[in-house]
Amino acid sequence: MSRKFHITTFGCQMNEHDSEIMAGMLQEMGYTPADERREANILIMNTCSVRENADKRFFGTLGQLKHRREQEDDLIVCVCGCMMQQQHIIDTLKAKYPWVDLVFGTHNIHRLPELLRNVISERAKIIEVPDQAEEMVEGLPASRLYQCKALVNIMYGCNNFCTYCIVPYTRGRERSRRPEDILQEIRGLAEDGVREVMLLGQNVNSYRGEDQAGNKVSFAHLIRQIAEIEGVERIRFMTSHPKDLSDELIEVFRTCDKLCKNIHLPVQSGSTEIMQRMNRHYTRESYLEIVRKLREAVPEITISTDIIVGFPGETEEQFQDTLRMVEEVRYDSAFTFLYSIRKGTPAASYEEQIPEDVKHERFNRLVSMVDRISAEKNAKYEGRIERVLVEGPSKRDSNTLAGRTDGFKLVNFAGDPSLTGKFVDVEITRGKTFSLEGKLIERQEQR
Ligand code: SAH
Ligand code: SF4
Ligand code: F3S
Repeated sequence: MSRKFHITTFGCQMNEHDSEIMAGMLQEMGYTPADERREANILIMNTCSVRENADKRFFGTLGQLKHRREQEDDLIVCVCGCMMQQQHIIDTLKAKYPWVDLVFGTHNIHRLPELLRNVISERAKIIEVPDQAEEMVEGLPASRLYQCKALVNIMYGCNNFCTYCIVPYTRGRERSRRPEDILQEIRGLAEDGVREVMLLGQNVNSYRGEDQAGNKVSFAHLIRQIAEIEGVERIRFMTSHPKDLSDELIEVFRTCDKLCKNIHLPVQSGSTEIMQRMNRHYTRESYLEIVRKLREAVPEITISTDIIVGFPGETEEQFQDTLRMVEEVRYDSAFTFLYSIRKGTPAASYEEQIPEDVKHERFNRLVSMVDRISAEKNAKYEGRIERVLVEGPSKRDSNTLAGRTDGFKLVNFAGDPSLTGKFVDVEITRGKTFSLEGKLIERQEQR
């Protein structure tokens, strides 16, 4: 029987990359990807648990599939990802969604082909969710979303246990891949036409891989080695924790042309007291000092952040510290979140949870400040010429191309789709809140 699969990704870039790997494995099994869920007979939901609305979106989508699962005998419904690493979710699935065919976790996605074969041949229902990672599995295929750029895991898991966060429980302890394995993967990607790599980890600057000679390799050193690979023109990473941002890394920002001049540096709150109750291990002053050093080394660096509003016990005064932080750093952009209770994390049991209406009111004030500053910063780009890696036609309008600057700003401009995957120069004509508009500069000599 011909099999088509569809994967829905609910989470972050690591989740996205897991989906790329699953798609790669399924294609090796001879299955073909479907653009729409209704065209597929293998459906995979790759879930996220970082906030409650991610949980809700998943259950909403899953609920809609019940009818189809009853009608279509050959339909296979699989669920995986971070939500599955929590026992209470597995219990809910067993009780309310017994028709789901396959449940697996974040530590065993490499087992998908075997598990799926068993489901198909035996028509069995399988739940296999190991609560710990085995050895890191290397050499898995991946079906990339973009031809010209790729996501590359350099480490897995997280040891930080920020008190609000579920990730250390769903992704397990921190493990760094071997530098040789990472370099080999990136060499292969470069040969395949990849020009930009995004190095992934929950806290990439605590990367400490062990090379074959038994030496520990730092994140900064790893970047230098990647920069030597021919064909790779841009290197980015996501995410770095302020407490581990080393002077060595700042030096690489200053001296390595291939390392993009952009950093995502989640601050979470502007109040030292809240930062400490979040277990973030930095203070308002030490965070600002890192920003100062980064900008001293690389004046044009763009900085983005994550901010949580309404952490338990947050006072109006402490929230104002967050506003002052945003005003002081002047972020290029910021992802803002309402604090969401995550079962099993320390902050879930803190008394003094902030009422929803207070959270929302603070959130709105924060967002309008963040957006105003983004628009002001983007307006400064008007008239500048930026080198852009073309990602393809824009999502909203197929006559428009979309690409990113070195500083990770999204740029839309008119151009031929054949430019996809190429670097072009674009004159910025308008800076908006979330993106830039530009005009392609035609070169006499095509590069
Ligand atoms: N490892 C990354 C973050 C991964 S989660 C880091 O430390 O930077 C992405 C973002 O989700 C976090 O930075 C945080 O701002 C937000 N987040 C995590 N748990 C949350 C919760 N319980 N409620 C609201 N936002 C949360
Ligand atoms: Fe979560 Fe903190 Fe780890 Fe980021 S560093 S994944 S916020 S525990
Ligand atoms: Fe979500 Fe898991 Fe990523 S909880 S944010 S998909 S690591």
